[in-house]
Amino acid sequence: KHNVIFSNSKEGSIKVAREIADLIISKKTKGKLCVLGLATGSSPVKVYEELVRMHKEEGLSFKNVVTFNLDEYYPMTKENIQSYYYFMHQHLFDHIDILPENINIPDGTVSVDDLHQYCIDYENAIDQKGGIDLQLLGIGRTGHIGFNEPGSHFNSETRSIILDSITRFDAAPSFLGIENVPKKAITMGIKTVRKAKRIILLAWGQNKSSIIKSTIEGEISSKVPATYLQRHNSTTFILDIEAASELT
Ligand code: F6R
Repeated sequence: KHNVIFSNSKEGSIKVAREIADLIISKKTKGKLCVLGLATGSSPVKVYEELVRMHKEEGLSFKNVVTFNLDEYYPMTKENIQSYYYFMHQHLFDHIDILPENINIPDGTVSVDDLHQYCIDYENAIDQKGGIDLQLLGIGRTGHIGFNEPGSHFNSETRSIILDSITRFDAAPSFLGIENVPKKAITMGIKTVRKAKRIILLAWGQNKSSIIKSTIEGEISSKVPATYLQRHNSTTFILDIEAASELT
């Protein structure tokens, strides 16, 4: 079964955090690194909360964890409270024992001239760690995963992308106006995400119900990049009742 529906986001998030913790522990037992692909935004917040709780109360250690974040606005400084760098430290990294050198987040400060090579290096860094063991995803109303907006290719890799106007509209409140939302981002590609051994996509609330229906039941198309996940052999959609409400 590829969709699991929970009565609320808290229950779903606890279940996902448990799977992540079990993976970290089993890798540790084998003396291996655990490579996690991480998302920002509202969807994973409770998963990170639960992982922090497990670290503080149950001694879950992140010393064998390497992380690669999906995306970052471009251009974007690390100190900006809207940056995904800031978000990840605020919600997760500042509260656990991950080694700073094991944290990878696309750098929104690289120069335009260096950007292309930077993206190739980011892609290679993932491969050099043995690939992503578990990738956490949210989904945008455009059907984007990471910032792979409509039109993104099945075989796309880490690159810079122009944000869809719907994505910028949805981000406008937190930037206090659409004019403050960056026009571009750096994002892992569809192929980068597809190479993950395990994928968990989180969607909560009524405003995700329509895109969840298209993603799970719609025709595979670059118009809804998340439909590419239908071709992945270990993807689970973790939904609440509202996000699942349009599924047949
Ligand atoms: C964030 C990301 C985006 C979000 C998506 C949903 O790193 O890659 O794809 O997951 O825009 O955002 P929320 O969770 O805020 O609804």
